[in-house]
Amino acid sequence: MFLKPQGNEPTETMPLVPKYINELSPYTPGKPIDEVKRELGLEKITKLASNENPLGPSPLALEAIRKAEERLHRYPDASGFKLRQKLAQRFNVKIDNVILGAGSEGIMATIMRTFLLPEDEIITALNSFIGFTVLARGSGKRVHWIPMKDHRYDLEAMASCINEYTKIIYLANPDNPMGTYCTVDEFDAFMEKVPERVLIIMDEAYFEFAQPISDYPDSMHYRYDNVITLRTFSKAYGLAGLRIGYGFAHDQLISNLLKVKLPFEPSLLAQSAGMAALEDVYHLDKTIQITRDGLSYFSDELSRLGIDYIPSVTNFITIKWPTPERCDEVCQKMIEEGVILRHLKPFGWPDCLRVSIGIHSENEPCVSTLKEIL
Ligand SMILES: Cc1ncc(COP(=O)(O)O)c(C=O)c1O
Repeated sequence: MFLKPQGNEPTETMPLVPKYINELSPYTPGKPIDEVKRELGLEKITKLASNENPLGPSPLALEAIRKAEERLHRYPDASGFKLRQKLAQRFNVKIDNVILGAGSEGIMATIMRTFLLPEDEIITALNSFIGFTVLARGSGKRVHWIPMKDHRYDLEAMASCINEYTKIIYLANPDNPMGTYCTVDEFDAFMEKVPERVLIIMDEAYFEFAQPISDYPDSMHYRYDNVITLRTFSKAYGLAGLRIGYGFAHDQLISNLLKVKLPFEPSLLAQSAGMAALEDVYHLDKTIQITRDGLSYFSDELSRLGIDYIPSVTNFITIKWPTPERCDEVCQKMIEEGVILRHLKPFGWPDCLRVSIGIHSENEPCVSTLKEIL
């Protein structure tokens, strides 16, 4: 039945909805600034919860958006030609190796729709990126959730779980929400055990932050035919609100993904902004520098306060509390003081809080509020 305007009594289970969808918990995003302002009557809020770029979008991207506005009555280029060509040149591949999507999550969703047969199985890490967890659960396929070891992907355990039905293995490198990464040696050893019929989704949403680390495996340096590399404009490029990401893979994987992908994503504004953001090396470098400084500021301060954290190579840092209750308490008190952090209970880490790295004027009040609370 449809709910009557005044009534919201629970409905009985709708027979059209598959059991695995019915049981799915929806994605729980970080609390929006306006909601916290409204609920607590606060004027000033510091939001360090969603791993966004604290510098905002690149000014060049904003200018490109303004110019593109005049063409908003037109559909975007369905082939995303100019941006795909630019990415192909930048990463030294052919345009046929490049795909665009509404965020890298949009491409992940297309991958799931394109390659999975009813009997196929998925392997991924337990309590890793929540976006993929929702996609995997929503696919209705059998998923092997491999626990992390010391807050890192256990690639050996993942490889030993491969069977004749395995079709997709998802790796976030670096991982969100732990901020840890698997090394070149670990990745090489893992790939030796993966048959070519298994597709690896290599989610490198935080690539730009991890790239300088000498033993971080940049998957674009490998030419495995069964690896699809996903990257995004949402983090280092500061365009999360526009929803634009990109991926690289073998041309036959890309050509089939292009058949299934929604034709007009990413939007016209997103494609234009992406083109310009790639040109804005200054903004990218500044973002990486500020993030690096912020990470070391947090690491030093947390160590000084005796707070346990997981060393990170991304634009966020995860703090571990002695108990889930203490974690709830700190998260709530921080919100009351106007600092929004991300509680990691929905990710499966009820004793952890994730702090996104901001600019210094955001990081500093976060640390001083933590000090007061402690
Ligand atoms: C590991 C990881 N992958 C993908 C995404 C989503 O990126 P996009 O905004 O491009 O969909 C995120 C966002 O938080 C992430 O942490």
